[in-house]
Amino acid sequence: MSTIFIVGSSSGIGKATAKLFAEKGWTVIATMRSPEKETELTSYENVFIYPLDVTKPEVIENTVSEVLGKYDVDVLFNNAGYGMKSRFEDMTEEAMQRSLNTNLLGMIRVTQKFIPYFKAKKSGMILTTTSLAGEMGLVLDGIYAADKWAVTGVCEMLYHELYPFGIQVKTIVPGVVKTGFKMEMSEMPGFDNLIKNQTEMLMPDMDDLELPEEVAQDIYHAVTDKDSDRMCYVTGKITKELYQKRQELGDEEFRKYIRSSLMKNK
Ligand SMILES: NC(=O)c1ccc[n+]([C@@H]2O[C@H](COP(=O)([O-])OP(=O)(O)OC[C@H]3O[C@@H](n4cnc5c(N)ncnc54)[C@H](OP(=O)(O)O)[C@@H]3O)[C@@H](O)[C@H]2O)c1
Repeated sequence: MSTIFIVGSSSGIGKATAKLFAEKGWTVIATMRSPEKETELTSYENVFIYPLDVTKPEVIENTVSEVLGKYDVDVLFNNAGYGMKSRFEDMTEEAMQRSLNTNLLGMIRVTQKFIPYFKAKKSGMILTTTSLAGEMGLVLDGIYAADKWAVTGVCEMLYHELYPFGIQVKTIVPGVVKTGFKMEMSEMPGFDNLIKNQTEMLMPDMDDLELPEEVAQDIYHAVTDKDSDRMCYVTGKITKELYQKRQELGDEEFRKYIRSSLMKNK
């Protein structure tokens, strides 16, 4: 039996992934900021819940040490995330710090703790939820764009750096998924047309958004894929189309294509 350690499993993609892997017979270490609030994952006998806040190094140290002393972990799944939307010039210091601390530094902190362990056993996988926002510029993503592009870059760097040690590094790239993910919106006068066009591009059918359970299936595929050299798993119809379009057109032509889509009806 294999074991997955999930960061950010209290809801959305992380929770759906915890349930799917548990149903597939995996041992699941489901970590979350407030384990005392969890009522669903507690009903699985092969799910073990631990506290973990990616902004708190001492909590990471305690939980990772305890878990690695008890379980033979095969996969680290970095999935915790904080979302915000803002005009770039309006971002508050607090929101910037929180975003960077959760999405980028949080991922780095937890990954650092697992690398020596995976190196010692000469195997292991580090899978991270990035975002379409880490593959293309989307308006009003603010520092979330910086975090997710940086996380994508860190993963690609580690893909090479950890290969000699038998450690696989993968990313899962969602677009819009129907979860409770909060993208806090501040007032943004003058952006109505841009927001409308971007929303239409990313969510042409609001009744047909990708579900976290569908992302979990793609995560299961990424983890069990025989192609151990593949890094990137894009999930969702629209996200796949946009990702593919960038590869077909090349970066410059893709940017022009997106710009004309965002500026239409102006
Ligand atoms: N939904 C989308 O449209 C979408 C699109 C692209 C990428 N993503 C990415 O997908 C991932 C999962 O998001 P989701 O859509 O499933 O939304 P979600 O349901 O809000 O899940 C976010 C998870 O991150 C956890 N988290 C937040 N701050 C944390 C911290 N400091 N330490 C540990 N855990 C923390 C949350 O736990 P709490 O319950 O404690 O807050 C929650 O479990 C995120 O990385 C997000 O950036 C989502």
